[in-house]
Amino acid sequence: MATLPIYLDNHATTPCDPVVFEAMRPYFLEHFGNAASTHSYGEAASAAVEESRAIIAGLLRIDPEEIIFTSGATESNNLAILGTARRLSSDSHFITTAIEHTSVLEPFRKLEKEGRHVTILPVRQRGDALAGCLDVERFRSALRPNTRFVSIMAANNEIGSIQPIEEIAQICRERGIWLHVDAAQALGKIPFDLRKWDVDLVSLSAHKVYGPKGIGALVVRRRNPPIRIEPLVYGGGHERGLRSGTLNVPGIVGFAKAVQLAYERMNEENERLCYLRNLMFELLQEALGPSIQLNGPALHLLEHRLAGNLNVQFTGIEAQTLLLHIPEVALSAGSACDAFDPQPSHVLLALGLSEAEARCSLRVGIGRFNTEDEIRRATELICRAVRELSSFYRQ
Ligand SMILES: Cc1ncc(COP(=O)(O)O)c(C=O)c1O
Repeated sequence: MATLPIYLDNHATTPCDPVVFEAMRPYFLEHFGNAASTHSYGEAASAAVEESRAIIAGLLRIDPEEIIFTSGATESNNLAILGTARRLSSDSHFITTAIEHTSVLEPFRKLEKEGRHVTILPVRQRGDALAGCLDVERFRSALRPNTRFVSIMAANNEIGSIQPIEEIAQICRERGIWLHVDAAQALGKIPFDLRKWDVDLVSLSAHKVYGPKGIGALVVRRRNPPIRIEPLVYGGGHERGLRSGTLNVPGIVGFAKAVQLAYERMNEENERLCYLRNLMFELLQEALGPSIQLNGPALHLLEHRLAGNLNVQFTGIEAQTLLLHIPEVALSAGSACDAFDPQPSHVLLALGLSEAEARCSLRVGIGRFNTEDEIRRATELICRAVRELSSFYRQ
């Protein structure tokens, strides 16, 4: 059997943990009922959904009724932004940042086209140890009397920058502004507790934490005054009328198991990922010297960068060309959601990199199942390919 490439693209998706897979299995085969049916098959499915909802809610420290299951973070982001906008007056001002996922930026662009007031904030630039993080004072100065909605990601999917959500939430709360947080890359990786994060809406996805694809949630906090959103999908009125459609029972069971495992292992896993990530960068530096540069926050700032994330610029070598020379490693040049887009990464451009520099950058996402041997081998292969390409370009 051909050996599979070393998988280092854990921001795009993670493999389903076998423990998660086993937890889901009976809900495909035996307990396959529709959770809305009233017979025993339906009751078993519904019980599993409610148990899973309670597990996730317990870990996030919220009320189970605040969880609306969706197909993933893309849908949750759209529901949070467009669903809220439909309830807000047309002169409301919306804020987000330039490094958000496209499933946040595109709804914002749609709002702008509809004539809404939108601000897309820059982040700290290259050269700053906190490159890719939002400057809280800059955020404060962008607020207007009519600012009603803010959407900020907890952790970035390309450069791993972690945003100061607690501080931003406090500012939003003082002014009665609704805050949405895209936590797709943060769930199970940074220890967030929604009793501390004073936020209104949170998007989650299972497949970024070793759960199945096609399932996620939007957390809609029940606050005073309550946040009101309009559904985007109409039908049988599932999920408190906010997301109609037959519930993905095996997915929900797997989602809860994945979050449970991630919370149990978070500290130990982060320590290991951080070690592997730093090892890879040190090996790259040793082999390639000043021809590589780190994109994003400094690696030692553990609270400001995801442990398994690395993003490196290889001077003069296009990442797409480099990838063709290392088929033994599964890596990517940027977000998988933008993979069909020939444009350079909007996240790297937002850090102040030129288009050429952005095209010479590679994203590495190290995950639960990577070993030190894999990291050493992948680094060796990358270095060999970089040397070959450099000498080819010099000729
Ligand atoms: C930060 C962020 N938000 C949203 C998404 C979309 O998540 P999903 O694949 O669950 O729709 C992703 C996935 O790449 C992401 O990294």
